[in-house]
Order: sequence, then C-alpha cells, then structure tokens
Amino acid sequence: MDLTTLPHTLWRELELAKDDRQHAWRTPVLASIDNDGSPQARTVVLRNVNSDSQTLQFFTDCRSPKIKQMIESPKIQLIFWSNALKWQLRVSALATIETAGTTVDAAWQQVELGPTRQDYLSPLAPGDALTTELSTELSSTHNLAIITAKVNHMDWLYLDPKGHQRAEFSVETLRWLIP
Ligand SMILES: Cc1cc2nc3c(=O)[nH]c(=O)nc-3n(C[C@H](O)[C@H](O)[C@H](O)COP(=O)(O)O)c2cc1C
Repeated sequence: MDLTTLPHTLWRELELAKDDRQHAWRTPVLASIDNDGSPQARTVVLRNVNSDSQTLQFFTDCRSPKIKQMIESPKIQLIFWSNALKWQLRVSALATIETAGTTVDAAWQQVELGPTRQDYLSPLAPGDALTTELSTELSSTHNLAIITAKVNHMDWLYLDPKGHQRAEFSVETLRWLIP
C-alpha cells in the first residue's frame, strides 16, 4: 500500500461500501459515550460519505437515547471491519445531530421509499414497551434524525499474512505505525 494514496483509497472504499449491501463496511459499529461516561457501541448503516467535507452520515430515530448522548458528548468512534479485505478502519470523529430542516427532509424522501420507513413512523420511541393498541399504528410524522460524523483521525490496519500493516492519518499526520 502506498501511504500517500491511502487516505484517498480508504475514502473511495467507504463510498463503495455505502452503495453495496454486501460490503462489510456498510454496517460499522458506532461507539459513543453515555451520560454516565460509559461506552455505548451499536451497529449502524452507513448512509452518506463525503470525502470533500470528510464526513460520514447515519440515520437514527430522534427519540433514541444515543441522540442526547452525542449532543452532550460529541466525540465518537466508528469501527469498520472487512473480512474480505482484511482491513480494519478505526475512525475518530465529532458528531452533530439534525432532526429538522432541508437535509432531514431530503433524507426522509430517500428513506420513505425503502424498507426501513416504518422504523421512523412508529409511535413508540426506541426502548418503549410494546402495547397492543399502539404497536400496529404508524404516525403521520417521521422521527428521522441524521448523525453527521466529522472525521478527525483514521487508523487503518491490514491483517496481511505476510506481515501486518498499520497507518494513521489526520489533518496533521500521515504515517506508518507498522510499515
Ligand atoms: C445490521 C444492523 C444495522 C443497524 N442499523 C441501524 C441504523 O442505521 N441506525 C440505528 O439507529 N440503529 C441501527 N441498528 C440498531 C442499533 O444497532 C441499536 O440496536 C439501536 O439503534 C439502539 O441503540 P441505542 O440504544 O444505542 O440507541 C442496526 C442494527 C443492526 C444489527
């Protein structure tokens, strides 16, 4: 791997993963910090990738506890692992949350046509107990929220049987950790 082209290669792979349901990087693990200072990690779907703004986007329910957590503690990490590539990408980022506005409206138009539509129309907030009368009805308004992760550091690890490779990069750094 050429160190100078590695950032471009990784952003390109993220763009491919976003559009490929079979790509393991489409479902990274997002770790945040909860209100007690404890780590909270969960799988999410990669929805948008913008290498120019160095941002990744994810969708969630605005009533999810992770929204409040990330507003109060915006430092997050994302872990992408691909067994096919043997690549792990560990991304450090700052999260911002949007629950209304033109970007959310545009995202909802995209989600509304897909299979996850009903997730954002449930009258029940994530974690609410199911009740028979509410469980089958959908709300007329959605609860979609966008998590935008502004990337500040990437740590790439290649599990090569001939010798592992690891590199990190950020605005200030581009270097091998294991050449
Ligand atoms: C394959 C997969 C994809 C998922 N995608 C999302 C997602 O895009 N957004 C989301 O909020 N939750 C997603 N989930 C559910 C989360 O992993 C998690 O269970 C849920 O958001 C509740 O997490 P929280 O209590 O930390 O808010 C996904 C789960 C799986 C297994």
